[in-house]
Amino acid sequence: MDLGLKGKVAIVGGASMGIGWGIARMLAREGARIVITARREPNLSEAAQKLRVETGAEIIPIAADCRRAADCARVVETTIARAGSIDILINNDGAPPLGDLVSFDDTAWAKAVEQNLMYVIRMARAVVPHMIAQKRGGAILNITAISAIQPIAGFGLSVATWGGVIGYAKTLSLEVAKHDINVNTICPGYIETTRLEKVFAADGSDPRVMRAKLEAEIPMNRIGSVDDVAAMVALLVSPRGRYTTGAAIAVDGGLFRGVR
Ligand SMILES: NC(=O)c1ccc[n+]([C@@H]2O[C@H](COP(=O)([O-])OP(=O)(O)OC[C@H]3O[C@@H](n4cnc5c(N)ncnc54)[C@H](OP(=O)(O)O)[C@@H]3O)[C@@H](O)[C@H]2O)c1
Repeated sequence: MDLGLKGKVAIVGGASMGIGWGIARMLAREGARIVITARREPNLSEAAQKLRVETGAEIIPIAADCRRAADCARVVETTIARAGSIDILINNDGAPPLGDLVSFDDTAWAKAVEQNLMYVIRMARAVVPHMIAQKRGGAILNITAISAIQPIAGFGLSVATWGGVIGYAKTLSLEVAKHDINVNTICPGYIETTRLEKVFAADGSDPRVMRAKLEAEIPMNRIGSVDDVAAMVALLVSPRGRYTTGAAIAVDGGLFRGVR
């Protein structure tokens, strides 16, 4: 199936590695032109070059910290200046620290809100007017986590702020639907990345023990790959996936236990 992504311009956040990198590679393979962002310039340039070699696509790296309002604005302005349009926005980055909710002070909460929620709000607010003016629709997609809909103790900074992202995305989807723009949120389960390796080692015990324990919780009995997430993203941000909007979708091998 041709997803119709050829020539589309996509901004993919947090794409120097992990899930963001996998999404950038999938969209690039489908013929999209990709802007990738992350904070550390050397890693980002290296990732851009690797993506060019693997896919042959146009890749534009823009070093930026998603927690800074000025950086969000600069990413959008630079994309318009260099690529000429924006069809797809993928909001993805790192995550706030783990820990018990009562251990975090106002500064930690403010940082978590900037990183998880304000980032999404600022990027969407800057991008939507361009998508409307282009008059050919568009797609906005946020990466959160399964913990946003099935909370995990210790992940509270993210759970609370991503709850806001899901509510924001649902409301925005209602407001921009008439412009043929869809807005969705993906909630990945456990996905093979360096971040997950750190989670395995977080309690100081043998990471293989934690890995086996988590795998046993997953009905499909395996950790997901970045391509598992990227394939769902590619469909949802393509013209083929446009009729799905306002959804929070688990990509988790069956880990989410609710019915809704
Ligand atoms: N891996 C999993 O199992 C899993 C499961 C569910 C949800 N998630 C969520 O999915 C997202 C991506 O996870 P991942 O595993 O792919 O992480 P990762 O491998 O650590 O990659 C994170 C990417 O985001 C960039 N980044 C981090 N902080 C940033 C900031 N403030 N501004 C701009 N870029 C930033 C990083 O580059 P720089 O450090 O250079 O900025 C890197 O490119 C996270 O929100 C994570 O919580 C992950």
